[in-house]
Amino acid sequence: MSRVVVVVGATSGIGRATARAFAERGDHLVLAARATDTLTEVRAECADAEVLTVPTDINEPAALEALAGAAVDRFGRVDVWVHTAAVMVYGRFDEVPAPVFDQVVRTDLLGAASSVRVALRHFRAAGAGTVVLTGSVLGHISAPYLSAYVASKWGLQGLARAVQQELRDSPRIRLCLVNPGSVDTPVYQQAANYFGRIGRPPPPISRPERVARAIVDCVDRPRREVSVGRLNVVLRAGFTVLPGVYDVLVGPLMRLAGLSGQPVAAHDGSVFAPNPTGEAVRGGHLPDLRQLVSGSAGAINAALRRRFG
Ligand SMILES: NC(=O)c1ccc[n+]([C@@H]2O[C@H](COP(=O)([O-])OP(=O)(O)OC[C@H]3O[C@@H](n4cnc5c(N)ncnc54)[C@H](OP(=O)(O)O)[C@@H]3O)[C@@H](O)[C@H]2O)c1
Repeated sequence: MSRVVVVVGATSGIGRATARAFAERGDHLVLAARATDTLTEVRAECADAEVLTVPTDINEPAALEALAGAAVDRFGRVDVWVHTAAVMVYGRFDEVPAPVFDQVVRTDLLGAASSVRVALRHFRAAGAGTVVLTGSVLGHISAPYLSAYVASKWGLQGLARAVQQELRDSPRIRLCLVNPGSVDTPVYQQAANYFGRIGRPPPPISRPERVARAIVDCVDRPRREVSVGRLNVVLRAGFTVLPGVYDVLVGPLMRLAGLSGQPVAAHDGSVFAPNPTGEAVRGGHLPDLRQLVSGSAGAINAALRRRFG
């Protein structure tokens, strides 16, 4: 039977890939984010599914209640609530303007908490349902120049664990936390920046479709926490067992691998308003295999034509 799946943060990156993945399975979708035109694009990409789009800013009071209400009006119920919405800011803690810091924490932690509250209200009434949150490996470790994001992800980790413990009396209501490492999404270019250099995902980089598969899988086989990223375990071990060594290395590594050499003037990115032109599934940090194959085929073809007429 088709499930009714709400995806908050469906216009870009992991959320957009997740919407496509649920659509391929024939589930009914309720897609939310701020950028109205991009939501329409994503609806077209999910042609296999019945889709409702609901422009939503999770920081607006009652916006998430309205989203849940719209989902129930259209499909009669909600079975799965996936929350991927987030924003990011680069900069030293004391150089990030306080309103930008606060808005990142509001969006990434309090916005996710509001999503969980609304979803649980519906699931408690129905007696069943699954919430999937996207945390990060940065909910277990820390990195410089991302203090608002790291603080939010540590908060989200704690929130998820506390709610999971409260849900022990309701075994048919599940909350899963998917914690990716680096993923090739636009979030790095969309981030506010007060560091002066554009950010990028440090390797190894996963594809957003890989994280989307983990999210769909969590709904089929709910688990407390799922990590996506080959280095996550190593980073957590280093942070926990050798904190002194970790702290010596993390700054230089972040400047080398987590920040590009591309200069950028201070800006607040998509923190207060969406930037639809920057929204896509991929962030362009990994080669697109299909383009690579068709580009190579074209080049080989052209070379053969030149050689043999
Ligand atoms: N990319 C990575 O390397 C990585 C690694 C670890 C964890 N994660 C986590 O994975 C999740 C998805 O990240 P991503 O990389 O896919 O980011 P992304 O491509 O930038 O997508 C973020 C999504 O959040 C939405 N959003 C932002 N502010 C919103 C608001 N106020 N109200 C409603 N929607 C809002 C955006 O849409 P609008 O702007 O249109 O509203 C967009 O759809 C996040 O929780 C992120 O922390 C990502």
